Amino acid sequence: MVNTNINMVPTTFDITAIREQFPILKTTIHGKPIVYLDNAASTQKPLRVMEATTKYYSEQYANIHRGVHTLSQIGTELYENTRLHAQQFLHARSEKEIIFTKGTTHGINLIAYSYAYQYLKSGDEIILSEMEHHSNIVPWQILQARHGFDIKVIPLQDNGTIEIEDFASLLTEKTKLVSISYISNALGTVNPIREIIQLAHENGTHVLVDAAQAVHHIPIDVQALDVDFLVCSGHKMYGPTGTGILYGKESLLEALPPFEGGGDMIKQVSFKKTTFNDLPFKFEAGTPNIAGIVALDEAFKFLDAVGFEQLVQHDQEILSYATEKLLSIDGMRIIGTAPEKVGVVSFLLGNLHPYDVGVILDNLGIAIRTGHHCTQPIMDRFGIPGTCRASFGIYTTKEEIDSLYNGLLRAKKMLS
Ligand code: ALA
Repeated sequence: MVNTNINMVPTTFDITAIREQFPILKTTIHGKPIVYLDNAASTQKPLRVMEATTKYYSEQYANIHRGVHTLSQIGTELYENTRLHAQQFLHARSEKEIIFTKGTTHGINLIAYSYAYQYLKSGDEIILSEMEHHSNIVPWQILQARHGFDIKVIPLQDNGTIEIEDFASLLTEKTKLVSISYISNALGTVNPIREIIQLAHENGTHVLVDAAQAVHHIPIDVQALDVDFLVCSGHKMYGPTGTGILYGKESLLEALPPFEGGGDMIKQVSFKKTTFNDLPFKFEAGTPNIAGIVALDEAFKFLDAVGFEQLVQHDQEILSYATEKLLSIDGMRIIGTAPEKVGVVSFLLGNLHPYDVGVILDNLGIAIRTGHHCTQPIMDRFGIPGTCRASFGIYTTKEEIDSLYNGLLRAKKMLS
């Protein structure tokens, strides 16, 4: 029987007890025990997350924020509880600063559209970095065509880092916003977010942080960071797909126009004039992913119970074990060797095509991602078509890294 009682997870890091909570880790792929190393794309779900979804649909379901009836009130309370938990998790000042979204991409689009509508015009500048995910590039390009602002790009260094001096040199009196990832999904690099925010603020520039790869790797305190906007996804932090959080400072969210119109985000509607709801509802139009948000609370509880101290230590241990092990293979080239990294290893093995390597590993039950990882500018920067990427989670073991190592030796033998 799978143990679903999180209180039974010991305070010392017990990987067996953690793995017990993830039913998928007991399954096989092509007859081999699954070795899931694609956690930067999405993490697996603990049973408590799935059980919360089932319970919500089977015992508690109704639409929220609308009914006087009991079920609607129960749903509303559960949904709003997750908001309070998200507020605590990110250390936001108020629950009004927590907007539920479909995920990071939705969060970035929301801010981009509302911010550009309100503040960006021809002659203004925004700053991105060369390591951004497509979801932090393309929305800005779409809006650039409409509003005419300029996009400046912080260049990537050979080790996959950015230099704070390069960033500083791009700031001008025209820079309105910096939009940058906390941690690179393709390289694992942890960016100097505090310094970036501080320098930006000294310049009167707002900062949006894409924390999709950060929330489940490092503790985040939005007040200590003094970040203006921050977005993340539920599915990368052991929660359901189709859920995400947008944090924004209350005063800034107040000043932005809504992104989508519809039910729940209004106070009063008439054909003459419509007024908008208070925060956070102003940015949550329509019926949301209620079951997902209700279950997201269980992901927070799971992470709370494991604790970030242990989580970070485990991640770093697996990262150094994997790095050392992989580098012992002849012809191994790791792309992204920043001194500050999380558990992501992007690599090329001799001149083997990442896709071929990925297919052989898959046959051995080992799941990695191959390709450009939605970061084509990074691949262009390094002059490569893509990489193999192994990314680790809370349940990753050294034995799984050994399986990856052995799988790579096999791939090399078969493909060379
Ligand atoms: N952004 C996700 C990844 O890195 C999809 O794979």
